[in-house]
Amino acid sequence: MSRRVALATCAAWPSLDVDGPLLLAALADEGLGVEVHDWRSGIDWSRFDLVVIRTTWDYWDHYEEFLAWTRSVPRLANPAEVVAWNTDKTYLRRLAEAGIPTIPTTWLPPGSEFTPPDHPFVVKGNISAGARDTAAYPAGDVTAVAHVAALHAAGRTVMLQPYVSAVDAEGETAVLCFGGAVSHGGYKSAVLTVGAGEPELGGWSVAGRAVSDAEAELALRVLDVVRGWGHELLYARVDLLPGPVLIELEVTEPSLFLSFTPGSASRFAQAVRAWLGASTAGSTTPS
Ligand SMILES: Nc1ncnc2c1ncn2[C@@H]1O[C@H](COP(=O)(O)OP(=O)(O)O)[C@@H](O)[C@H]1O
Ligand SMILES: [Mg+2]
Repeated sequence: MSRRVALATCAAWPSLDVDGPLLLAALADEGLGVEVHDWRSGIDWSRFDLVVIRTTWDYWDHYEEFLAWTRSVPRLANPAEVVAWNTDKTYLRRLAEAGIPTIPTTWLPPGSEFTPPDHPFVVKGNISAGARDTAAYPAGDVTAVAHVAALHAAGRTVMLQPYVSAVDAEGETAVLCFGGAVSHGGYKSAVLTVGAGEPELGGWSVAGRAVSDAEAELALRVLDVVRGWGHELLYARVDLLPGPVLIELEVTEPSLFLSFTPGSASRFAQAVRAWLGASTAGSTTPS
């Protein structure tokens, strides 16, 4: 009998995103039976040999429920223990401590004082995605005080960073890794404009992009650190700003940039097959 895989989405993305048709075709080519379900649908997830988190792009509005759901699914990729730390960007502090170059960040938990720095800066929250509640400000801009207060009122830790202006010309590089190997790259234009407030969702462009040797090496170093924490990853998107410097490690529900690189969806599907093979051999996640 063919192995059964579910792709988890949300009510706003019932048919996945642009990666969806490519993923479905590639998984079918690997002989896998695939279904797509809203993570909040309440179905019996134990029917599947593997549930892959995909377009669950409302989890930040139901954060505790989402974490509980990940813990309730018997065979999930990436696993619940990965989602638990990855959805809170304080993991970046641990990666920095492990020697990964990251953007210098001041962490301001609720209750801490905030003074606008004397250089262009970014304010964002520790639990966010898609640039929600994220904005860049000119040096000394006191309008950021209300932004910080709103994040604190929502119980968020504020991340205060210098604005990395090289992103304006060079953009961001996404390094897509499947089954621990680099698959392909993606380009994202600068999302923020200094002084322009929170960006419109989708107000940036994406494209394919070649991964440089330095970017590939850094991406694999990041995966090595995570392996040292005890976690193998089915999929990872290592987001890099010019440097290269890590801005984000997306191992919960990243867009996969599959449409720009022929063969990338097949590599994802092969990684799913390998994951299933490894989990059949023993534990629920490969070791
Ligand atoms: N310190 C920064 N300097 C320049 N641009 C930034 C900075 N922080 C965030 N951005 C921009 O905002 C976008 C969203 O920020 P990011 O940290 O990736 O959070 P998320 O994607 O989870 O919302 C990035 O893709 C980048 O374009
Ligand atoms: Mg990002």
